[in-house]
Amino acid sequence: MVFQDLEVESFYRVLAPRPTILVTTTNQEGRVNAAPFSFVMPVSIKPPLLAFASVPTHHTYQNLKETSEFVVNIPSADILRELWITGEKFPSGVSEIEKAGLTEIPSTKVTAPRIAECIAQMECKVFWIKDAGDHHLIVGEVLKAHVNENILKEGLLDVKKVKPILHLGGKNFVVGDNLRTVD
Ligand SMILES: Cc1cc2nc3c(=O)[nH]c(=O)nc-3n(C[C@H](O)[C@H](O)[C@H](O)COP(=O)(O)O)c2cc1C
Repeated sequence: MVFQDLEVESFYRVLAPRPTILVTTTNQEGRVNAAPFSFVMPVSIKPPLLAFASVPTHHTYQNLKETSEFVVNIPSADILRELWITGEKFPSGVSEIEKAGLTEIPSTKVTAPRIAECIAQMECKVFWIKDAGDHHLIVGEVLKAHVNENILKEGLLDVKKVKPILHLGGKNFVVGDNLRTVD
């Protein structure tokens, strides 16, 4: 086996493809924001905690610092183009959900809305936030989880039916529908 050096700052390029989420937040005036994130992971089951890392200049980060809540929406490949639009820079207070032609639906535990076209949505409150280099790590507690009916098969995401979006880097994604099961 021959290995070559990789710049350490590029490590995340091989920690890929990464599950991609759409995070919705509101600012103090109730204006809605949405943006994609792929520095994402589950952290704990009891209590249910998840984490994602955000650059502190993002509106998402500023909003959740103000309101201490957010929604993690799980997109499928059906809305890849729309997800890409939500990643564009819009002025603060402009809803990327509207810009992308997606549909807001109310949450039950938090003010930030859910995205109807996503296959699942997790309403979260901030558990803690820590500086982590050029990103900040946000851990959220899942207060309520919604899942489209028929997308789970024996408790697992049915990837034959819904193709998750996995981020490789930049404009490149892997659409995860190639199921392999070990013996
Ligand atoms: C697929 C994808 C994944 C991304 N992942 C992250 C991420 O994990 N952390 C981050 O800070 N920005 C990430 N970004 C960049 C933000 O989504 C982007 O800068 C966005 O405009 C931020 O929006 P906001 O200022 O409305 O929060 C990602 C962008 C894309 C397209």
